[in-house]
Amino acid sequence: MATPLPVEAYSALSGSDAHAYLAPLFLGTTGENADAFERALLAVVREHCRWRRSFHPEDPPSITAADRNEPSFAAAMARTEAGLHDLSVRLQRSAPMFSPRYVGHMASDLLLPGLLAHLATTLYNPNNVTAETALVTTDLEIEVGQQLARMFGFNTDPARGAAAYGHLTSGGTVANYEALWLHRAVRFWPLAAARALSGDTRFAALIAQFAGTPEGDGWRLANLGLDATLDLHAQVCAELELCPDAADLRARIAAARFERLGSADFLARYGLAAPVVICPRTAHYSWPKAMQLLGLGDAQLWHADVDAHMRMQPAAVQALLERAWRLRVPVLAVVAVLGTTEFGTIDPVHELVALREACAARGQAFALHVDAAWGGYLATLFRREDGTTIPHAQVRKRFRYFPSAGVYRAFTSLDRADSITVDPHKLGYLPYGAGGFVGRDRRMTEFVGQRPVYIYDKADPHASSGRLAQLGDYILEGSKSGAAAASAYVSHTVLPLDAEHFGRICGHTIRANEYLFGRLHDMSRRLAGSCTLVMPVEPDTNLVCIAVNPSGNRSLARMNAFGRRLFRHFALDPAASNAHCQFIGSHTSMLRKNLSAAAARRMARKLGFDADTFVITVRDAALEADHVFLLRHTLMNPWLSDDSERGDMLGRYCDYLEQAIAQTLRDGA
Ligand SMILES: Cc1ncc(COP(=O)(O)O)c(C=O)c1O
Repeated sequence: MATPLPVEAYSALSGSDAHAYLAPLFLGTTGENADAFERALLAVVREHCRWRRSFHPEDPPSITAADRNEPSFAAAMARTEAGLHDLSVRLQRSAPMFSPRYVGHMASDLLLPGLLAHLATTLYNPNNVTAETALVTTDLEIEVGQQLARMFGFNTDPARGAAAYGHLTSGGTVANYEALWLHRAVRFWPLAAARALSGDTRFAALIAQFAGTPEGDGWRLANLGLDATLDLHAQVCAELELCPDAADLRARIAAARFERLGSADFLARYGLAAPVVICPRTAHYSWPKAMQLLGLGDAQLWHADVDAHMRMQPAAVQALLERAWRLRVPVLAVVAVLGTTEFGTIDPVHELVALREACAARGQAFALHVDAAWGGYLATLFRREDGTTIPHAQVRKRFRYFPSAGVYRAFTSLDRADSITVDPHKLGYLPYGAGGFVGRDRRMTEFVGQRPVYIYDKADPHASSGRLAQLGDYILEGSKSGAAAASAYVSHTVLPLDAEHFGRICGHTIRANEYLFGRLHDMSRRLAGSCTLVMPVEPDTNLVCIAVNPSGNRSLARMNAFGRRLFRHFALDPAASNAHCQFIGSHTSMLRKNLSAAAARRMARKLGFDADTFVITVRDAALEADHVFLLRHTLMNPWLSDDSERGDMLGRYCDYLEQAIAQTLRDGA
């Protein structure tokens, strides 16, 4: 990133109409839109009760006036009110995530349309596990999946070829689990099908066409790749429709699958090594969990090195792919992160797409999954209302640095990924319980369906979308709230997922980040005599981390201890009222084990501490010296800006940080 412009230059770049645009969309820092919110809530309750009355108006009421006059009735109501009051009192000790003073975790004020839709739908309590228990909201969930898919540039029109699908999950963690569960099912299906159908002359030519020989070469079948596997599956299913013994053949395929046999039996039967998944060292901790949960083993999660900017290094991925190729180890998936949890950095998706194509050419397949739990919604910045991609130069006009060429290419290559995790409950500004999964080709769902696809196909005139509405059939979760789907649907309808609508909120957060970056840069110059303030990672998006080392200190352990004392100024005290906390932040650590020796040395030099204590291998490093403690700022609050009329909250944050550093320095080592 280039040297920042002077901070004063920032105002000229920020969208002057940003506040006017955002004003009706949130409740506001002091509840400014409370009247509108109350009116909308009241209307929702009234409409819901009207709906109840209109369902068999001839039915007698279940609660009579006499019931309501009973003393026990009033007492029970009073207990409810007291319970709610008690809850309110307790809840007010929550982290004030609505406030621009909160720059900690990935949370903020919520979008009003989504919040109201969530509350309204909860009154109807739909269960999106199946359309039968959610006549309205499963359709909304399928539509949300389509909206998210289009945001990434995927085709959603089956008439134009492979069509994407998507659905909500409880969070990004479960979407990541689902990705591996699904890709494993697809990946190993050809082996099972070839084994089950071998010797059957009706299928010999088809298997040979995909696998080289009528029996099928195991390694080749395990490396067909997503598109070829989907084609083979479609052709086998079509052929099965013509077979009188189809039920028996289907049962034979099912009996030979990974899902039936389990890992040990399946891999032994087909002579395969345990499959691996490749992810960057910065990957979220849900990935090792996914490996454990699916019985793949977290030792099979191979970590690719990241560069000094904490972005996955394509050369490191390539080296791991080479190793897997040499050892004949199937690579189930390569995972790229779009917005790392700790640094907000963007992995080079475009380079991984190129690697996937190069590997496919020699017969090595892997699925490319993008974990965009955090950064997914930033894709709106690159898309016009008509779905076309905005050229780099035009996106650049709205910002000082964003997006770098690499970031631009990563975002505009998302339509080449095989699947994507994206969390509406993070940068989608919606209530929790709204993660999301998007798949490039909806035929993938047919490999995990608990009930055979043809049952739905036959029963439903709208074959594909009808089956998609039976969510519980092909997703990991069972019962799930329809409120999350309604919330996302209404939010995306009010604010379509393109640069001119939703993208304005995202753009605002990026500009806030650029402003903070400039302020911190200025501050580091001002503080040069007393401490070294460093932003170790160039921000790709809207997250900034800093490390602070008192001047003259050469010990990493002491620097980390200083950082932890400094952080106390930004931490909520669970035992006290949060009103005393000026600003709330979060912290993270840059782990030595995630850095190359060169990057570790560079970091040590930047901070002015003893490189040797950091560069030695992690095994030998003392616990206090195997990482660099960082203050982490997640900038997603809509009211963070340089606007002095609205308090220049980021400027005030910086003033407070400077005072906190001075105070911590005064308090001594
Ligand atoms: C990159 C990334 N992936 C996955 C997750 C997990 O998401 P969730 O907390 O919604 O399960 C996170 C959460 O911060 C994340 O940052």
